[in-house]
Amino acid sequence: MKISVYYTPESTPENEIPDCAVVIDVLRATTTIVTALNNGAKSVKAYSNLDLLTKESNLLPPESRLRLGERGGKKVDFCDLGNSPLDCTVETVSGKQLFISTTNGTRSLQRVQEAKTVIAGAMINFQAVVDYLQEKQPETLWLLGSGWEGGYSLEDTVCAGAIASLLVDTGKPDMIGNDEVIASIALYQQWQDKLLDLFKLSSHGQRLLRLALDDDLKYCSQKNITDTLPIQTSLGLVSLSN
Ligand code: MLT
Repeated sequence: MKISVYYTPESTPENEIPDCAVVIDVLRATTTIVTALNNGAKSVKAYSNLDLLTKESNLLPPESRLRLGERGGKKVDFCDLGNSPLDCTVETVSGKQLFISTTNGTRSLQRVQEAKTVIAGAMINFQAVVDYLQEKQPETLWLLGSGWEGGYSLEDTVCAGAIASLLVDTGKPDMIGNDEVIASIALYQQWQDKLLDLFKLSSHGQRLLRLALDDDLKYCSQKNITDTLPIQTSLGLVSLSN
């Protein structure tokens, strides 16, 4: 397995696609996707474009679907929910097909949607991601952060570091696809017991705090509270792995 970490979809090498990609948007898209599937949502389909989301979700009766939309951390007006994992309770999402569009996370999912395997990772399920990868041993693996509008983010990098730290054997340098792997592991080693403190220092964490979303930050900073593993089953659509 050769592992590379990319901080944003924009920083990935053009015209390349890995065997397997783990898409990470800890604050908050992949945490929300993991939570929704854990709480009984049938599937989650990601869109970068809100018009297309509306058009395709309209094909389902209102009682079978939920639209989740976020821009700049805030809920999109016409959607049923924003992008808070805390809104994805069993009562709200169970049995529903979810349609989601967020500022950055859905663009990362789209960047790697042609990969053989695409999974969604977050702090709340990273051990399940690692277990899957250790079993499947893909030849090339990208841990892909979402960042914020093309820029670096601490919360996605620390999650990539959590995953990489359990996979990389530093005695086998051939496993290390780029320097970001080692940098992300160092970040995780430094902050693993203070993730909420780190998220409060991050620029998107501060944006969410300004929107009084402190509880979202707390929720997203928990480690391995579920073994739910969202996996892409058709283009842009993720559901539970079997
Ligand atoms: C995103 O995709 O940029 C995020 O998940 C933003 C958020 O809702 O916190």
